[in-house]
Amino acid sequence: MRYQPLSSSFYKNARNKFGKLLAQKSLAIFNSNDIYPIGADSTMPFQQHRDIFYLCGVDQEESILLLFPDAVEAKHREILFLRETNDHIAVWEGAKLSKKQAVQLTGIETIYWLSEFNRVFQELSTQCERFYFNTNEHYRQAVETQTREDRFIKWCKKQYPAHGVAKSNPILQQLRSVKDEEEIAQIQQACDITEKGFRRVLSFIKPKVWEYEIEAELIHEFIRNRSRGFAYTPIIAAGNNANVLHYTENNQQCKAGDLVLMDVAAEYGNYASDLTRTVPVSGRFNDRQKAVYQSVLHVKKEATKLLIPGTIWKEYHIEVGKIMTAELLKLGLLDKADIQNESTEKPAYKKYFMHGTSHQMGLDTHDYGLLHLPMEANMVFTVEPGIYIPDEGFGVRLEDDVVIQKTGTPINLMESIPIEIEEIETLMNN
Ligand code: GLY
Ligand code: MN
Ligand code: MN
Repeated sequence: MRYQPLSSSFYKNARNKFGKLLAQKSLAIFNSNDIYPIGADSTMPFQQHRDIFYLCGVDQEESILLLFPDAVEAKHREILFLRETNDHIAVWEGAKLSKKQAVQLTGIETIYWLSEFNRVFQELSTQCERFYFNTNEHYRQAVETQTREDRFIKWCKKQYPAHGVAKSNPILQQLRSVKDEEEIAQIQQACDITEKGFRRVLSFIKPKVWEYEIEAELIHEFIRNRSRGFAYTPIIAAGNNANVLHYTENNQQCKAGDLVLMDVAAEYGNYASDLTRTVPVSGRFNDRQKAVYQSVLHVKKEATKLLIPGTIWKEYHIEVGKIMTAELLKLGLLDKADIQNESTEKPAYKKYFMHGTSHQMGLDTHDYGLLHLPMEANMVFTVEPGIYIPDEGFGVRLEDDVVIQKTGTPINLMESIPIEIEEIETLMNN
């Protein structure tokens, strides 16, 4: 494997926590993602579904995990079904997990080939009263394709119409939002790789480089450090492109005097990092750029202090809005009349800062987490304020990833990634 996986005891522990939250006589099923087609015989690179990965570490297509804590036979409490492999298949398909490797990786003792699924599932269905299905309840999900999981649920409901059903997803949202030390170490690794990429481009960026050339430098650095690539589609946005929040074309030239906003980060072992830095193409900020940058940095620092156990995400955003409003007044972007005319639904600051400040981050870049519940220690959040000024031809966003602590302010996993103006300018002019 390109990355160092977590220990099998991490996965065992995750399954135990999940199993304890199931109703009695319940069987939970988790499927791998499909490999998505492009056309002819070409496919997108495989991306494992993060839930089956979280529960067993298997990073392979066509895998099925069954968890059945009340199974009559102990060997049926955890079962992993894998695509068959042998020496002959390996020549054509490349290395897939052997049963022995799967036991070592996952800590699951009972491994079957996929061809045995129907027989085993039939047998276990007679012992259980309900199936826990894993539907996608992420607050930002908008999936139009039918996943392998969806197909399975459809098949299973038809085949076993008398069984009850329940939802795994709320349990996983809760468990995955609080990170284990091993997971934080993996995210830190992703952040450290991201740092290498950022330092590399600091000495590369100059007038006339193209946005895609910066992207190329970053991916080079990420892959040579054992990342499999970007944690999400990279945004490299020079000048006014920074004011298009989801700009991903990355096909323009960086002009002298402009800023370039880079929302780019590496994954490591399926764990994301999520970074944004905004730097001057010519290596020096002008006074106005400096002032806006300092405001964004100030909001980021103040917002970070609010990420403590007990904070409610929605209330946090109201507080950050107040801090941002004060900065926008200082910058002359808002005036008193704007504030008098604002409402709770439409705060004035939204004209220049229209997105959220923080989201959970982990196996998914926009990770699981039930946002109405209070924040807890070991949750990982981004902090990413921005000010976007199309009329002045630039936008600034700064983003780090932090871990909430039991007491005190969060630990910043991107602490060592340059962010202060003097440091950025010094590094760019070396
Ligand atoms: N890069 C996606 C985000 O910052 O949320
Ligand atoms: Mn980002
Ligand atoms: Mn983010």
